[in-house]
Amino acid sequence: MSLLVTNIGELMTQDADAAVLRDAALVLEGERISWIGPAARAPAADDRYDAGGRAGLPGWVDSHTHLVFAGDRTAEFEARMAGETYAAGGIATTVAATRAAGDYDLTRLLLARVAEAAAGGTTYLETKTGYGLDVAQEARSARIAAGVVDEVTFLGAHLVPAGEDAEAYTDLVCGPMLDAVRPYVRWADVFCETGAFTAEQSRRVLTACAAAGLGLRVHGNQLGPGAGVALAVEVGAASVDHVNHLSDADVDALTATWAGPDDDGVPGTVATCLPACDLSTRQPFPPARRLLDAGARIALASNCNPGTSYTSSMAFCVATAVLQMGLTVHEAVRAATHGGALALRRHTGDDADGLRAVGSLAVGHRADLQLLDAPSAAHLAYRPGMPLVHAVWRAGTRVR
Ligand code: NIG
Repeated sequence: MSLLVTNIGELMTQDADAAVLRDAALVLEGERISWIGPAARAPAADDRYDAGGRAGLPGWVDSHTHLVFAGDRTAEFEARMAGETYAAGGIATTVAATRAAGDYDLTRLLLARVAEAAAGGTTYLETKTGYGLDVAQEARSARIAAGVVDEVTFLGAHLVPAGEDAEAYTDLVCGPMLDAVRPYVRWADVFCETGAFTAEQSRRVLTACAAAGLGLRVHGNQLGPGAGVALAVEVGAASVDHVNHLSDADVDALTATWAGPDDDGVPGTVATCLPACDLSTRQPFPPARRLLDAGARIALASNCNPGTSYTSSMAFCVATAVLQMGLTVHEAVRAATHGGALALRRHTGDDADGLRAVGSLAVGHRADLQLLDAPSAAHLAYRPGMPLVHAVWRAGTRVR
C-alpha cells in the first residue's frame, strides 16, 4: 500500500542538504519513503492524505531517556525549586521503587511513557537501564526495555549503590552485569561525574562494554567541569550527553571528531544537549551555539527521567533551544531529528539489520513523519507549549 501525503505547506526534510520544500508532498510505501518533491509533480498512490498546507518534518528522534522506572520524586523536585541543589542522590529513591515493582507494572509504566512520547511526535526512541543496579534487576530492565523501545542502553554505571564499594561495583558492572544484559542492549553508558563514577572507573566500564561489542555513550560534564567529554572522545563514543560545563579543550576535542568524515562516513562524537533537564536542575545550558559554530554536531533529547527531567516533550526541548540557547528553529529541529539519529548512528540505512535511516526525510529512509497544526515549524518556538502535533506516521503507519 502506498500513501501520498500532499499539500504540505513547508517540509523540513533534514536530509543531507537540509532542504526546506514549499508546497511539497511525499509518498509512503510500506515502511519507507518512496518519493518526495513538489506536490504539483507527485505520482499517484493507493491512498491520499491532504495536509491542508500544514508544516511537515521528521518524527523526533529522542536519543536519551531513562523510562524504565517506578515511583515518584515530586518532593525532590519541589525541594529543588525551593533552592536545594541536585546531586544525583535521588537516583537511589527510584532504584528502590523500581526494584519493588513487578514486571507487569514496570512494563505498563514503560508502555505509557512511550505512548506519551509518540503522541508528542517522537518516532524513534532510546532508553536506558540504570534503576536496577544489581545483576538481576539490570537484566530485567534491559529485557523489558528491549521489548518496547527501538534502542536500549546499559547504564549499570549510573550510581554506586549505597553501602557498596565503588571498585567492586565497577567490577560487577564490567563482568556479570554486562554478561546478563548483553542480549538485550546495543549501547553502554556511564555517568562520569563527581559523586558517580571517576574517569578511571568510567574508562574501565566503557572498555569492557566495547570489548563485548556495545556502542558507547557517556553522561559527562553535567554538574561541573570534568573528564567526561575527553573520555568520550578518547573511546570513540557516539555521544556525550549533558555537556553543560565545557572547557575550550572540550569544544575543540568534540569538533575534531568531525574534521574528517562526513555524515556518511564513520561519524564522530555528538554533543547531546538536554535542556529540559537543565531547567529542572538549574544548570547553565550547554554552549550549543558555540559547538555548532565550531563545527561540532549536536543533538537535542528529552532525558525523560523521574529525577531531573520528567518530560518526553521534544517540542518543549526545541522551543527551549530556540528561546534560550541561541539556535535557529531549523538548527533546533535538526538537532532533535537528524542529530538524534547521528547520536544513535541510525542516520543512514543499514540493510544488514534491516533498519532504515531515521531522523530525515529522503527516499529510502524510514517513513517517520509528523505534521503540525501550523504553517511552519517556527511555530514550535513561536507558540511554545501549544499542542501542535496534528498527525504522526511511524515506519509508514499512522500512529496519531
Ligand atoms: O541524566 N545524570 C544522571 N542521570 C539522570 C538523572 C537520573 C535521576 O536523577 O534519576 C540524568 O539527569
